Amino acid sequence: MGKEKIILTGDRPTGRLHIGHYVGSLKRRVELQEAGGYNKMFVFIADAQALTDNIDNPEKVRQNVIEVALDYLACGLDPEKATIFIQSQIPELCELTFYYMDLVTVSRLQRNPTVKTEIQMRNFETSIPVGFFTYPISQAADITAFRATTVPVGEDQEPMLEQAREIVRRFNYIYGETLVEPEILLPDNAACLRLPGTDGKAKMSKSLGNCIYLSEEADEIQKKIMSMYTDPGHIRVQDPGKIEGNTVFTYLDAFCRPEHFERYLPDYPNLDELKAHYQRGGLGDVKVKRFLNAIMQEILEPIRNRRKEFSKDIPAVYEMLRKGCEVARATAADTLADVKKAMKINYFDDTELIAEQVKRFAEGKE
Ligand code: TRP
Repeated sequence: MGKEKIILTGDRPTGRLHIGHYVGSLKRRVELQEAGGYNKMFVFIADAQALTDNIDNPEKVRQNVIEVALDYLACGLDPEKATIFIQSQIPELCELTFYYMDLVTVSRLQRNPTVKTEIQMRNFETSIPVGFFTYPISQAADITAFRATTVPVGEDQEPMLEQAREIVRRFNYIYGETLVEPEILLPDNAACLRLPGTDGKAKMSKSLGNCIYLSEEADEIQKKIMSMYTDPGHIRVQDPGKIEGNTVFTYLDAFCRPEHFERYLPDYPNLDELKAHYQRGGLGDVKVKRFLNAIMQEILEPIRNRRKEFSKDIPAVYEMLRKGCEVARATAADTLADVKKAMKINYFDDTELIAEQVKRFAEGKE
C-alpha cells in the first residue's frame, strides 16, 4: 500500500474518439506518460461498461474496441509505458464489483448526477437495466483493482470518483486498510472540461453529427469548422459579436497556443486581442474559423497519419491488447486476493484457518 503514483483511466468503446476526448483526457494522459514521475499507468477500453446500455448491440461495442485502441496509439499512448487492456477480459473486476455492491445503497446510486442525466438521455426512466444503474460500483472496481491514485478524466466523471472514494473509505473502515483512495485529475483549462459540439450543443454525440473525430479527414474537419455555430446575432462583419457561447472561441480557448498566432494570424498578438476585436465589431466569423481550422489541422494531421500507420497491422494491435490484458489481470488478481483476505473469504489460502477451527472444536466451544 502506499505512496506509489498509479495512473488509470478508460473509455467506453461506443464510437471512435473525438476531440472532446482529446482535450478532456487523452492529451493529458500522453503528457503524463511522457513526463514520467509515476510508477504505473493503465489505460483501458471499458467494453463491459459500454454493454450496460448497449446490451442488444454487442457488434457495435466489438467494432469500437479496435477503433478506440487505434485512437489511443494515434494520440501517442505507448504500450511500452502504459498497460492498455480490455475491461471484460479481467474477470476479477466482476468479483470486486459484487463485494462492493454490499457497501452502497440504492438511494446513493439514485443520487449520482451523471447516471441521472444518462437515464434521461436514454429514456430509461421506467426500465433501467440493473447493470447500468450500478455501473458506478463497477467503475470503483476498475479504479481500485489497479490501486490507482490518479484518474485523469472529464468533469462528468467526478461523481464516479466520489463514489469510488466512498467505497474505499467504507471498505477500509470495515475490513482494515486495504484499498487506495483515488483522486480525479481534471483538465486545467475550463474550455477543455466540456468541449461543446460543433453546433454549440453541450455534448458531442455521434447521433447529433456534431463531433470532430481524431480520425477525421482534413476536408471534413474544415467543413465542420466552417459551418460551426457562432453568435447568431453577429450578422455583418462590422457588428459587435459575442464570445460567450460562441463555439469557435470556446474551441480556440481549448486548442490555441501563442505560437499559432505567429504561424497563422500574425496580425494579432494573442487570443485576448482577437476576442476584443470580435466584440468591438469588424472581425468576421470566416476569418476566425479559418484560423481555428489551421490550428485543428496542425493538431489532427499527425494523429490521423499515425492512426493510418497502426491500422496497417491490426493483428499487432490485438496482440498488444492481449499482452496488456495479461499484465492487468495479474495486478487485479493481487488486489482481489487482498480484498478476500480482508473480508475473511480466503479459506484455502489461510494456512491458519484449519488449525484454528480444529482447536475451536476440540475445546468444545460450540
Ligand atoms: N465512465 C468512463 C467513460 O464514460 C469510462 C470508465 C470506465 C472509466 N471505468 C473507468 C474512466 C475507470 C476512468 C476510470 O468514459
